[in-house]
Amino acid sequence: MRNKIAFSAVMMLAAMGMARAQSLDPIAMRQVGMDLETGSFGFIRSVVAAKGDVRPLEGPAKAIARWQAMIPSLFPVGSDKGGDTRALPEIWSDRAGFDKLAMAASAAATRLAAAAKAGDADAVAVEMKALGEQCGACHRGYRAK
Ligand code: HEC
Repeated sequence: MRNKIAFSAVMMLAAMGMARAQSLDPIAMRQVGMDLETGSFGFIRSVVAAKGDVRPLEGPAKAIARWQAMIPSLFPVGSDKGGDTRALPEIWSDRAGFDKLAMAASAAATRLAAAAKAGDADAVAVEMKALGEQCGACHRGYRAK
């Protein structure tokens, strides 16, 4: 019995070691996240353009808010190379400016989610514009063409 427990513990540690060995690649993670975010944002834009019911936009807006809040952690020091990245060195030389834009985007998406939940189409349109401006501002300053 004791051996069995010891064996399971060893197997568990081995599995944990494997999980660590296959640790997340921050470059691939942030790029796939940005692609998914584009899909969510595109959905928001199409519903607003079609003057549809904004209530279903709460979920995708919340996802964008949470994603943007994670952005700073997905650009660790050293992840400026090692993959096919378009991240500019300014991310690390002007860290505060970069993080501030991520948080501003997150805040705009949080307001968008609240407006969607309330069914307030006008407020959703306003926050969608604010969020789009944050995407553009960050890409202009911190992403290679
Ligand atoms: C705080 C900065 C910041 C904000 C805000 C931001 N992005 Fe990005 N985005 C980046 C950076 C930096 C890259 C390049 C990442 C890389 O290649 O490693 C990028 C890459 C992308 C890519 C390309 C991903 C790929 O497959 O290579 C898309 C698409 C994208 N962003 C969409 C968006 C959208 C849509 C928004 C707003 C809803 C947004 N981003 C907001 C910084 C930002």
